[in-house]
Amino acid sequence: AAVADRNIVSVLLEGLRRLEYRGYDSAGLALINEKGLHRLRSVGRVAELTAQADESQACGNTGIAHTRWATHGVPCERNAHPHISGGLAVVHNGIIENHEVLRARLKGDGYEFTSDTDTEVVAHLIASELKKNPDFFAATRAAIAQLQGAYALAVLRESEPDRVVVAREGSPLLLGLSTEGNYAASDASALLQVTRRIVYLDNGDCAELTRTGYRITRVDGTPVKRRETETHLSADAVELGQYRHYMQKEIFEQPVALSNTLEMLGAARSIQPGLFGANCEEVLKDIRQILIIACGTSYHAGLVARYWLESLARVPCTVEVASEYRYRDSVADPQTLVVTLSQSGETADTLAALQHAKSLGMHHTLCICNVPESSLVRENALRFITRAGPEIGVASTKAFTTQLAALYLLTLIIAKLRGNLSAETESAELQHLRHLPMAVSRVLELEPQIREWAEHFAMKQDALFLGRGRHYPIALEGALKLKEISYIHAEAYPAGELKHGPLALVDKDMPVIAVAPNDVLLEKLKSNLQEVRARGGELYVFADADSEIT
Ligand code: F6R
Repeated sequence: AAVADRNIVSVLLEGLRRLEYRGYDSAGLALINEKGLHRLRSVGRVAELTAQADESQACGNTGIAHTRWATHGVPCERNAHPHISGGLAVVHNGIIENHEVLRARLKGDGYEFTSDTDTEVVAHLIASELKKNPDFFAATRAAIAQLQGAYALAVLRESEPDRVVVAREGSPLLLGLSTEGNYAASDASALLQVTRRIVYLDNGDCAELTRTGYRITRVDGTPVKRRETETHLSADAVELGQYRHYMQKEIFEQPVALSNTLEMLGAARSIQPGLFGANCEEVLKDIRQILIIACGTSYHAGLVARYWLESLARVPCTVEVASEYRYRDSVADPQTLVVTLSQSGETADTLAALQHAKSLGMHHTLCICNVPESSLVRENALRFITRAGPEIGVASTKAFTTQLAALYLLTLIIAKLRGNLSAETESAELQHLRHLPMAVSRVLELEPQIREWAEHFAMKQDALFLGRGRHYPIALEGALKLKEISYIHAEAYPAGELKHGPLALVDKDMPVIAVAPNDVLLEKLKSNLQEVRARGGELYVFADADSEIT
């Protein structure tokens, strides 16, 4: 969203272009100029919307724009945002859970729906509130108070051309401030083109932007102040450079991401709890178990950490998928350290699960997160910021490896405080960590060979990933990556479980990928691989040079 002294069409389109990497199926914008409210929408790329804007010589000093990833209603122009009701236009990220009830009520009141989206409900709801209260900001807040679900919203009103109203609950939203106008976006990278002065909104915040200022209130209208920060996001960091796509770039950034994350270790021979926050030592001495909460890839990092925390630090650890934990009736122990993991720090389920844990009386909380300004970091007194740099590719890669590095540091600290880490081992472990970027670079040199495998693999329909011990979560992560990026169905199994069912699926058409480092479970894994061979399965093995897998 933008309200400025200049024509903001190019700012809006460039903002959309910057966020294209997130994936979308349609795009649109709404503008107010002296002729009134105008809307452009297109199914397809932002470039098509740009062509439409050029052709129609679109201009305006106030506008909102959006790329949509269909949730309610198929991808088509009718469902693309902005949605309009009278002289109002709305764009929305998130899902309105009570949209059906609201839709029925609004239809009863005579509002006509032209799309299948949950967002159109919001446009009509604000229009209906404006009939009771002509104040645009107040009417929008009254509408928002009736919404259930997650949203980041931006709203325009034709009769108030110098104003944009925005609100957030569960979806990220921030304001960008500049001397020539004010802006809002779901991610700072969309606004780097016009400003670095950012104000992050909290859940439940609403804001009114004009060319010269802004004000923030809670949904009930109570004014609040939020800190203005200067974003350090570098414009280069979000450029593709020599790589073919962001995921490749980020895979190759892992050595740098790891050395940046581990930089504070310097040449130290011992590790200090202060790395995780001021009173970390006090908190860690008071805990008797750890609960890790996360989603997706971050959850897999948590699963790996459980092996370390139990075997090295000797502290009981459970790992929960955030979207399950937040609704589960669980037993809470106040002497638990609740560790939330998240690349973005904005994952709604993880944030809600943390609130749930706190509401059960667990107040020792720590997060490992890649975005210092995120909601998750603001919710935790103890925190470790991974320094992976912006993760633009949809699939998490360098964030995962830096999370693992941070979790290993946490394990070492807890092991030390519990008397389970000798000075000698500590120094040796730190040395191993420092070697990590180099070791990862060696693995990345395998790219040509892996590319060959991939060509072979590309025509397969299904794949099975196997691992044992702490490499089982690595197998889970491999399967998740393959599904997400290639749309090949993939599953992961602890290799020892193979004979309890999934072996039946293995034949020449089912590639089996095994993670086989030279550890205590290697011999057992080798026998599992024999079972695969016996069924004619095609094996792809990631092994240490000395694993001796033939
Ligand atoms: C997988 C992936 C997702 C995220 C998950 C959690 O490649 O990117 O599974 O890991 O949505 O996101 P964060 O870590 O930002 O909380």
